[in-house]
Amino acid sequence: MSISFIDTHSHYQDKAFDGDRYELLERIHRENGVRSVIVIGYDIPSSETAVEMAERLDFVFAAVGVHPEECNDIPENWLDEVRRLAAHEKVCAIGEIGLDYHYEGYDKKRQEIVFRRQLELAKELKKPVSVHVRDASEDSLRILSDYGQTDGVMHCFAGSAETAEQVLKLGMHISFTGVLTFKNAKKALKALERVPLDRLLTETDCPYMAPEPFRGQRCDSSMIIKMLEKIAEVKGISVEDAAKATSENAVRLFGLA
Ligand code: NI
Repeated sequence: MSISFIDTHSHYQDKAFDGDRYELLERIHRENGVRSVIVIGYDIPSSETAVEMAERLDFVFAAVGVHPEECNDIPENWLDEVRRLAAHEKVCAIGEIGLDYHYEGYDKKRQEIVFRRQLELAKELKKPVSVHVRDASEDSLRILSDYGQTDGVMHCFAGSAETAEQVLKLGMHISFTGVLTFKNAKKALKALERVPLDRLLTETDCPYMAPEPFRGQRCDSSMIIKMLEKIAEVKGISVEDAAKATSENAVRLFGLA
């Protein structure tokens, strides 16, 4: 397989992978062009597991952080814990962090504080961030712009083309999941048109968001080939060139060896 690519956002800690986690990862690395994988934490235990997975497989890296939906359910010393985990040599980013106003009962103030502390930690440690935003574009852009230019990625991008441009202005990268391949992906495709090839990354957010024709199934990093086919089509380039460009971006941004 000559095409290889990088999954910059995955959750292989998920119980969906309990039956075959390492077998699957080793197989898709060997046979399906999956060059590197970043396993992303969403609270302290899942961040810890991400680091353990990165210790076990050389092509796996970890991101550590607290997701906005978990921000009320973390220990008092959570920031020290994130800092401690981030010191590991295979931790390549702080994430996933951000804002999520999707479900009733979210705590805006608390989400903002937890987001800000982790943005500050990332700056201090000179690590990029993996940012999750749902139904909170305006507040996220306001907070991010307080920190000037930011190394990082707006993951699972679901905003408009205009929002994409604002994210790019902050110096950030953008990545899309399998959503790109869905029949109702018009908005995502419009945003993709605006993202220059040198700011684009690939990701799955697995086990969720499997692309067509696997929609609804358990997702894994090998399915990124479907996103690359769509990127190639929209950008008018070959799948090989799409894979090469997005992989180079990931290596550069996350400092992957
Ligand atoms: Ni995620």
